[in-house]
Amino acid sequence: MQNPIDKFNSWWKLAILETPLKKKNAICVSTIGKDGFPNARFVDLKAVDSEGFKFCSHFDSVKGKELHQNPKVALTIWWDHVGLQVRVIGIAKKITNDEAIKYWEGRSRAAQLTTLSSQQSQPMESESRLRQNLANIKEFMGVSKIEKPSNWGGYVVIPRSIEFLTFREDRLHLREHYEYSNSQWNKSLLQP
Ligand SMILES: Cc1cc2nc3c(=O)[nH]c(=O)nc-3n(C[C@H](O)[C@H](O)[C@H](O)COP(=O)(O)O)c2cc1C
Repeated sequence: MQNPIDKFNSWWKLAILETPLKKKNAICVSTIGKDGFPNARFVDLKAVDSEGFKFCSHFDSVKGKELHQNPKVALTIWWDHVGLQVRVIGIAKKITNDEAIKYWEGRSRAAQLTTLSSQQSQPMESESRLRQNLANIKEFMGVSKIEKPSNWGGYVVIPRSIEFLTFREDRLHLREHYEYSNSQWNKSLLQP
């Protein structure tokens, strides 16, 4: 049986090969709010390895606060051009600061500056005010290296189940479900 992490990576590779997608790494992350409602948004999937599914964000954003309170998450991805869906359920934990720095340094300077100038998920007085704040920070920073702020970092979602769906026009989708228990992955098929 193929390991589902390897399977995800081979599907991901296939999905970004000669792709019409502009955002090749977008994945929907669903958290659970204090009120019990699910809360979903897209993020950039940075990597998938033996630890799990990795993405970065502001720790003090809504998602950051929700993850702090309840680390149970769902990830969902749909690659329309190849007809594949993946669903993941797991537990999120923070990646190390060193690993987060690696991702921070891989971001564009523009993205780094935006991160410094925006308090993600907080109400915004006006867009022009934010742009002015960004311009001030840009000027202040000059050409110096921008260090990763302590309120920005990464999460790894440690999966407990992963489902791969191959879409079929007659709705006879193939659903391959992997569940992690007793230190191993078990595979079963689900009716469409
Ligand atoms: C394609 C795409 C990629 C995104 N990537 C990220 C990301 O990697 N990290 C992030 O914090 N927000 C990302 N966002 C913005 C989020 O969708 C969201 O608006 C933001 O994180 C605030 O969410 P929150 O208020 O629930 O915390 C992305 C949005 C889109 C549409």
